Amino acid sequence: MRTQVVIIGGGPSGLLLARLLHTKGIDTVVLERRTEAHVLARIRAGVLERGLVDLMAQAGLDTRLRAEGIPHDGTLISYDDTLFRIDFKAQTGTSVMVYGQTELTRDLYAARAACGGGIVFEAEAVQIHEADGHAPYVTYHVDGQQRRIDCDFIAGCDGFHGVSRRSIPDGVRRDYEKVYPFGWLGVLSETPPVADELIYANSSRGFALCSMRNPQLSRYYIQCSMADSPDDWSDAAFWAELRRRIPTAQADALVTGPSIEKSIAPLRSFVTEPMRWGRLFLCGDAAHIVPPTGAKGLNTAASDVQYLFHALVRHYDDKDDSGLDGYSEKALARVWKAERFSWWFSSLMHRYPDQSEFDLRIQRAELEFLRSNDAAQKAFAENYVGLPY
Ligand code: FAD
Ligand code: DHB
Repeated sequence: MRTQVVIIGGGPSGLLLARLLHTKGIDTVVLERRTEAHVLARIRAGVLERGLVDLMAQAGLDTRLRAEGIPHDGTLISYDDTLFRIDFKAQTGTSVMVYGQTELTRDLYAARAACGGGIVFEAEAVQIHEADGHAPYVTYHVDGQQRRIDCDFIAGCDGFHGVSRRSIPDGVRRDYEKVYPFGWLGVLSETPPVADELIYANSSRGFALCSMRNPQLSRYYIQCSMADSPDDWSDAAFWAELRRRIPTAQADALVTGPSIEKSIAPLRSFVTEPMRWGRLFLCGDAAHIVPPTGAKGLNTAASDVQYLFHALVRHYDDKDDSGLDGYSEKALARVWKAERFSWWFSSLMHRYPDQSEFDLRIQRAELEFLRSNDAAQKAFAENYVGLPY
């Protein structure tokens, strides 16, 4: 079997790339290790930058997103009982869209099925061959059979634990990593959100985030120990702890209910360089991870996809490889800025085990500066709504 681009990974990066390439008549096969139901059961990001919304429009897939997504013109930040707002719209002229990654992925799967595009689910033992030569191919097992696809290019969209990044030889690849000494315990509940906008809360007991998916579905997170398991946290214990970490007025207004999902995510900053090796191009979590504070993970994956999409179109339409040759450098320039923002916002909002009294005073001073300084709010807003592609 032969195709133009083999896409490894059927998460949001792989599916969006496949869809955009389809709009230009470029053939792809998507190889996904899991089932569709498994991918759609993963609760992850919830805030889309304007750039990702525009890409979904370009893909012809923004109808449900515009009908059901909730535009947010600002966000709330608290420390102890102080609450302030950063106005994205006033600072940057743009807003962000609250729309779950699950819904976005559902829209992408539906579009792929409607156009008859190939997705191989439960593809096992995926291996990349000859990526640094002229005739790359990918092998995998499905239903106990070994298969092979020859192609022009391979897009590695298979997330942090995928095979693509590890196929780049150690001598070529350099990894940069920071692991944080805590996790996020997340709860999804069918309750109205505590506020109309998100609340990022710094408290002496640790970070908390009040987010949402729609007017009847809330998503909350609290900083927790990585030694914890979700089973250690009853719903009652979770709600009590969340209440202690947000300002009194919001704690009093919080509507609680049974959790319908509860999970713990580790926090990590990670970048691999380069993002291209021969005919293999990495996109999204396969190449970089951010701590979730600031919702940059999915959005940074989307900017990679946009760059690679344009580079591939230029290759096929104009026989111009400058986009492919410049892909890694261009993507990494934006990735590192998202890494910086996510690292900085995480440092501002969390309690660290080794924080001294001095560190805490500095954190407080920085929060007060952000609350009262227009230039600081503008810089925050520009990063939050997304730097230009
Ligand atoms: P993924 O979504 O990881 O998709 C990769 C796909 O590749 C998966 O479907 C996987 O099954 C498949 N795959 C893996 N290995 C193979 C293989 N060998 N062969 C074939 N297929 C393979 N971001 C935010 O902005 N806000 C959040 O709140 C947030 N929460 C998160 C919580 C968790 C637990 C995690 C892990 C991530 C979270 N993120 C969040 C990050 C965000 O979800 C990711 O940045 C986004 O999913 C990246 O999309 P992707 O398609 O690049 O990778
Ligand atoms: C969500 C997650 C984030 O990390 C964030 O910064 C904002 C929202 C969410 O899951 O809703």
